[in-house]
Amino acid sequence: MLNPVTTSESIGVYDSGVGGLAVLRALKAKLPGESFTYVADCGNAPYGDRSPQFVESRARDIAGFLTACRAKALVIACNTASVVAAHGLRDHFDLPIVAMEPAIKPAALLTRSKVVLVLATSNTIRSPSVARLCNTYAADTRVILQACPGLADQVERAQFDHQVTRQLLEAYILPGLAEGADTIVLGCTHYAFLGNEISRIAGPSVTVVEPSDAIASQLSRVIAVSPLPQGRAAATLFYTSGPTQQLAAFLESIGEPSAQVHALPTVGAQRQSGTSQALN
Ligand code: DGL
Repeated sequence: MLNPVTTSESIGVYDSGVGGLAVLRALKAKLPGESFTYVADCGNAPYGDRSPQFVESRARDIAGFLTACRAKALVIACNTASVVAAHGLRDHFDLPIVAMEPAIKPAALLTRSKVVLVLATSNTIRSPSVARLCNTYAADTRVILQACPGLADQVERAQFDHQVTRQLLEAYILPGLAEGADTIVLGCTHYAFLGNEISRIAGPSVTVVEPSDAIASQLSRVIAVSPLPQGRAAATLFYTSGPTQQLAAFLESIGEPSAQVHALPTVGAQRQSGTSQALN
């Protein structure tokens, strides 16, 4: 039985909910010596149609909590929070911050039909960041920006293989395919859990771009990577602002049955105490 290492130098990972767990999986595979503290703001998910002010304020509060937990770096495993809040967080917090944005640049290099379909939340789709990515990297490509209301909710409920999920996916994907898209960008971390279903609907000739591995590579470039702990396991802590049993059940459904989940302390307490317990 491996003992957990101290979490005093963990990497903070944050999403509106469960979507960032796909990113966390890639981070753990790439950086097996690191400990992680994952915060799911499930009590406030989805962020997709929230006001940017709300998302910004949650991102700042949760980054404050993770900083108080002595995180050595922060991964915003959420496109919506990244496009809305990453800039402000970098101004406010003095630690490396890895943020996400829809993988329009790699998709523009991959597409042969020169039509790319981007699936993301409404906030991400209408963000200036996405407009900048299209103008900078995909000037010769038609980028179809498809907001996907309801889809993140289905993932939060772990309804991957569900009729409502399939109906939503077909409504969001088929029109873009009919326009000639041969590349689909998963511009919301929640959609990684629907990758199989998306590939099934799109068919084998369509490339689905999912950026978790690229984020893990990016993180390994910006931190001093910890060595593999000898005889001890790196720890992962989970916090949620929603029901702890719900996140625990989700973790179990994706193959992490023994994860223990804690309630995210309220923001005032978060900044003062910053305590955490080593789990795993
Ligand atoms: N997982 C998030 C993203 O990557 C947001 C989903 C949501 O809360 O609407 O954008």
